[in-house]
Order: sequence, then structure tokens, then C-alpha cells
Amino acid sequence: MSTFTIHDFLKKKKEGRKITMLTAYDYPFASIVDEAGIDVILVGDSLGMVVQGLENTLPVTMDEMIYHTKMVTRAVKNAMVIGDMPFMSYQTGIEDALRNAGRFLKEGGAAAIKMEGGAEIVDHIRAMTRSDIPVMAHIGLTPQSIHRMGGYKVQGRTEEAANKLIEEAHIVEDAGAFSLILEAIPMNLAKRISEELSIPTIGIGAGPHCDGQVLVLHDVIGLFDRFVPKFVKKYSHVKEDALKAVKAYRDEIEQGIFPSEEQSFK
Ligand code: KIV
Repeated sequence: MSTFTIHDFLKKKKEGRKITMLTAYDYPFASIVDEAGIDVILVGDSLGMVVQGLENTLPVTMDEMIYHTKMVTRAVKNAMVIGDMPFMSYQTGIEDALRNAGRFLKEGGAAAIKMEGGAEIVDHIRAMTRSDIPVMAHIGLTPQSIHRMGGYKVQGRTEEAANKLIEEAHIVEDAGAFSLILEAIPMNLAKRISEELSIPTIGIGAGPHCDGQVLVLHDVIGLFDRFVPKFVKKYSHVKEDALKAVKAYRDEIEQGIFPSEEQSFK
């Protein structure tokens, strides 16, 4: 059972302390993220790209999300775990949405769910909140909408688009969302939304004024390098280090260095 809860989200915002959030998809990485003291772990459908090697997140299924969420919750002692509703797990109707969101809490052990969308998911948010399933909403660049958006593009650049996002932010707050992800929007727009809402905003590519920040773990540690968005900061080069280790292992076998007496039984 995690110690960070949705009440701590609001408390941190009120106290002006930043909320820290990172994705994780399996036991070893979730253990690291939790041990590092990150407040919230998102089991994001980004796993489709950084774990499964897919082109986008659309093919990710509910069963796959539950499989990964279970591994994460097994590892976590303090962080709050949020399950990410994959494409077509909620767009097909409120009943599907409730059933699938419930699976994250019942089977996965998560404490809340995240859903992409604004005005169009208001009824979903209301139904989930009524059923005690806390909802984090997600507006701006929503990767499940790439075909409508025409790719991974910054959103809210025109006055009309910015006003629409401000309106949607209020709509999801009023519907009962406990927090809101703002993805790939201009930083001044994110600042305005963060100031206007009483629920915390979590930014990804939305500048420094959000109430918290989230990134994809595999980007942060330098494990995923197929492409690196502008908003990512790499804090290590895990892929390079792993590659070096595996090559050294291969070389030592070929040269008869490994295993030595030290790794052998007498
Ligand atoms: O799927 C995901 O990991 C996400 C975050 C990056 C916000 O939606």
C-alpha cells in the first residue's frame, strides 16, 4: 500500500511543493523509482513504445497494462501507482471505462487511473469518481489522438486552441479529476492553467510552472534512444553502459577470461 495519496497531491500544491512523477513498467525499475523517493509512478501506455518496441501507443491492451501494473505495485512501498487507460479501453462507453478502470485497482493494485481527454471524457470522470476510482485527466498533446492531431505536435499555440485547453482544464476539474497532466503546450499557457485550477497540474513538455513534472523513465535514464523529444532531459546513459557491459561479457567468453576460477566450483 503506497503512502503517497491523492490528498498529498492537493497538500503539495497548497504548500507550493512540486509533485514528482515518473513512469515505470516493471519490478526492478519501479523499485528504483520508489527508492529514489518519487511521489507518483505512472504505469503509462508509453510502455508500448519504450518496452514493446511499437510505433505508437494505440495497440497496447488492457491485459498488458494490468500485467505491467502488477509488477510495479509489487515493488512499490511509498509511491502512489497510477494505471494509464489504453486506447479503446474507455472510448467505447462509460460501462467499459468503469470496468477497465476498476481492473487497475482490483487486479493491478493501483490507487488511481489516468485517462487522455478533456470535455469528451467528462461523463467517464464523473462515473469513476462516483465509484471511488480517482481520475487523473490528460490534455494538450494526447498520444492516443496522433492520427487526428497529425503527429506529436505542440498543442495550444493559437489563441483559440489555448482558450479551448483552458476551458477543458476547468471542465475536467469540475467533473472531479484530482489532477491534470498537461502535455506539450506552451509554458505560459501551462502557468495560467496551473494558477487557475485548484487541482495540481503535472507537466510534460509544459514548462516549469506546473505543480509537478512527469517524464518517461526510459528517456530520463537514457535507455530509449529511438527519438528524444525536446522536453526530455537525460540524467544517465543506461543503454550505452549496458551495451559496454554486454560487449565486455562477449569478449571475455571469446578470450577465455570468463568464467575464471573465481566464478567456478571446486
Ligand atoms: O503513457 C505515458 O507514459 C504518459 C505520460 C508520459 C504522461 O502518458
